[in-house]
Amino acid sequence: MPANVRVNWPDGGSMMLPTLWLRDVCPCPDCRIEQTQEKRFHLAALESVSVASLCADAEGLKVTWSEGHNSVYPRSFLEANHVRDQPKWRPWSDDYSPGYFDFTTFLSDRVYAIRAIEEFLEAGVLVLTNSPTEELTLERLAARLGPIREVLFDRIHNVKVDPKGYNVAHTSLPLPPHNDFASYSWPPSVQALHMLANEATGGRSTIYDGWAVLQAFRQEDPAAFDVLCRVAVPFREFDDGNETFACEPIIRLNPNGEMGIFRYSNQLMQVMDPLNPDTAAFYDAYYKLSRRLITSPFNRRFRLHGGEILVVASHRILHGREAIEDAGFRHLQDAYFEHDNVRNMLTVLERTHD
Ligand SMILES: [Fe+2]
Ligand SMILES: [Zn+2]
Repeated sequence: MPANVRVNWPDGGSMMLPTLWLRDVCPCPDCRIEQTQEKRFHLAALESVSVASLCADAEGLKVTWSEGHNSVYPRSFLEANHVRDQPKWRPWSDDYSPGYFDFTTFLSDRVYAIRAIEEFLEAGVLVLTNSPTEELTLERLAARLGPIREVLFDRIHNVKVDPKGYNVAHTSLPLPPHNDFASYSWPPSVQALHMLANEATGGRSTIYDGWAVLQAFRQEDPAAFDVLCRVAVPFREFDDGNETFACEPIIRLNPNGEMGIFRYSNQLMQVMDPLNPDTAAFYDAYYKLSRRLITSPFNRRFRLHGGEILVVASHRILHGREAIEDAGFRHLQDAYFEHDNVRNMLTVLERTHD
């Protein structure tokens, strides 16, 4: 069976189309479920696939398949761009500062919410202001960010200085840049940090444009970048009742070779096998990247006040905290969401009309 079908249009243009693709995408009502636009025809139902005859005219392409089925493809369909654009992220510019949006308006005003979500998808960061300083306020964000992504330990996580805490965040120590739950194979892709009270001195929030740092690192040292895409690193987070563990590379690219997941957590990273020949190469690359990260200009520091919610695209943006200097009351709640659901919300909001 020929792998491609050549189509010669009467006006002189031509195109090569994969034969199996062409049969698979037949738009006729027998091959599609009209109600849902889903595919009904399943290629595997045919023992072989080949063209018996075809005819291209001004309107489109007619194909009779050897199995007997007739397909009609409008020319506009064959020439359409079938690549769906994802919203574009942009690395922070020199004068970037996080966008602040009012919590109540974000929840109530469609056009305002669209603006905020667009800003979030581009910059990876959003700060919501004037939110209630009540526990579980983060639940209300589900109306805009989609359902809470639950992980072990808690649905809504409390961060206070706590001598029994399971994580360095529960101490007054500084927190180097990280994203949460590197110990999950699919870590949460959106994190919301809600400051309920911040009367402590110190403890400024830090955020880093991780993908921008990685992009520069990739340019400067592509071999080291590749090592970080390849070598799996163990991460663990646990307490008496929970045990989470994942062994994954620091950098996961998407199928187009673009940034996918930046997994970075000094605190959760486990001891690697020193006898594995990859370990030395990994550490060389990891050290270079980490030095670059902590001195990076893609870094912003600010005080998160009571009533403010920092939302980050956490496969891209790392967060941290400077040391807390005194014991003034400080209470933060964290919840996680998923980036897919935020993108869904943008589409739905754009479709809706006031
Ligand atoms: Fe964190
Ligand atoms: Zn068909």
